[in-house]
Amino acid sequence: MVKICCIGAGYVGGPTMAVIALKCPSVEVAVVDISVPRITAWNSDQLPIYEPGLDDVVKQCRGKNLFFSTDVEKHVREADIVFVSVNTPTKTRGLGAGKAADLTYWESAARMIADVSVSDKIVVEKSTVPVKTAEAIEKILTHNSKGIKFQILSNPEFLAEGTAIEDLFKPDRVLIGGRETPEGFAAVKALKDIYSQWVPEERILTTNLWSAELSKLAANAFLAQRISSVNAMSALCEATGANVTEVSYAVGKDSRIGPKFLNSSVGFGGSCFPKDILNLVYICECNGLPEVAEYWKQVIKINDYQKTRFVNRIVSSMFNTVSNKKIAVLGFAFKKDTGDTRETPAIDVCKGLIGDKARISIYDPQVTEEQIQRDLTMNKFDWDHPLHLQPMSPTTVKQVSVAWDAYAATKDAHGICILTEWDEFKKLDYEKIFENMQKPAFVFDGRNVVDAEKLRKIGFIVYSIDGVK
Ligand code: NAD
Ligand code: UGA
Repeated sequence: MVKICCIGAGYVGGPTMAVIALKCPSVEVAVVDISVPRITAWNSDQLPIYEPGLDDVVKQCRGKNLFFSTDVEKHVREADIVFVSVNTPTKTRGLGAGKAADLTYWESAARMIADVSVSDKIVVEKSTVPVKTAEAIEKILTHNSKGIKFQILSNPEFLAEGTAIEDLFKPDRVLIGGRETPEGFAAVKALKDIYSQWVPEERILTTNLWSAELSKLAANAFLAQRISSVNAMSALCEATGANVTEVSYAVGKDSRIGPKFLNSSVGFGGSCFPKDILNLVYICECNGLPEVAEYWKQVIKINDYQKTRFVNRIVSSMFNTVSNKKIAVLGFAFKKDTGDTRETPAIDVCKGLIGDKARISIYDPQVTEEQIQRDLTMNKFDWDHPLHLQPMSPTTVKQVSVAWDAYAATKDAHGICILTEWDEFKKLDYEKIFENMQKPAFVFDGRNVVDAEKLRKIGFIVYSIDGVK
């Protein structure tokens, strides 16, 4: 029986390994983490992450060929294949702070693998890492290897949150990069044999290590670049009377461009797009390519501009002040169908409104009050360090309250901001909401969720992201 161990039981490690266990009954999978609360949750009925379909997959395999444990060293020692899926946050201090990837967690995992191993292993980079990381990892592993042979593979993950299980069941592609040596090819084949148990052969791509590492950063940069392009257009639409939804539909009809990922929004968020693009910018700078770095930096700049523009629109529409006004924020997660708030645009929008002294009442179907308060009191880039998996500090933002539903959040509010495209926000009783709000009642739709015309008929003043006033 092939034994797999995955270091890091997060948004990637958990779902990815659960699907491998489900699809490969003859493989034993152990997912390990240093966070005791996380592992306890994986072993309970309340999984640590909300992801449609995940509960079902975990229930089918847990205790059979899928195990969650804090005994990191034991499972690493016993494994034939070790996936490393730890966080690779943006550095907060030192060389490259604010841009470069912090590989502290990765390096400590690699050192531990080298220390505890007593047999040959394939070590798989699942985390998103800077190109050439495998070279550094190889040095760490072989330096301490006591004659044990390690093969490093790059197998970046392309799942998106909210659709992780679907994406893992039917991936567009699985990418495996390895050394172009007989041992490297054999390791690539061993990993391919796992995926080919459910992924069609033609969707499993094999490349050299550096291409696999860079393809991951490139894919995220291309995706984010589309959003910044359409968001840049939304500003021009607002200035000219064009409708960005119509523009992106027309543009996406070109088969060379395609319709996906062209929804304008209050800005992209999530644990990866901002971090990975900053990392790409840093790599370009380090390789003496300032023009290329500047090109990708613009993707982030437009994203920041879009969030600022949204806050400015709210304040200017509400007669240039939101001081002491109640603003209901509907949606705090960075996208629908997840409870994940990492780098959510809602943080910047709320901080902007708080800065203008608004009172904010937030409702999100999947995000807890504790998480919201933590996000609003945390410094940028601190969110992706395991410290934040520990209990939170007692600091809270007094201007912020958290409501149990959209009706409570909007009661007596002067304005509503929609920041996540949860389906339930489309179906709210907006007549009832209007009755219970202060007048004039504003709606700022950062996700093009509501039927603006219908709301205007009720009496709302509506600003949508599509540029139509
Ligand atoms: P996460 O923070 O949810 O999970 C990482 C886990 O690793 C944490 O639970 C942490 O406690 C654990 N960890 C850190 N150091 C450890 C160590 N030395 N030993 C054992 N456990 C350790 O992160 P994530 O969202 O799963 O992302 C992991 C990686 O995958 C990142 O590089 C990210 O860029 C990449 N990625 C994420 C997504 C996504 O949708 N979240 C998608 C594709 C790729
Ligand atoms: C993204 C990629 O889609 C995954 O392929 C990748 O594996 C992952 O990053 C990663 O490396 O972590 P994710 O961040 O989970 O996945 O979610 P997306 O669906 O890509 O959305 C990212 C952000 O862009 C969200 O805030 C979303 O609301 C926003 N978005 C997305 C738009 O504003 N417009 C769009 O058209 C699409």
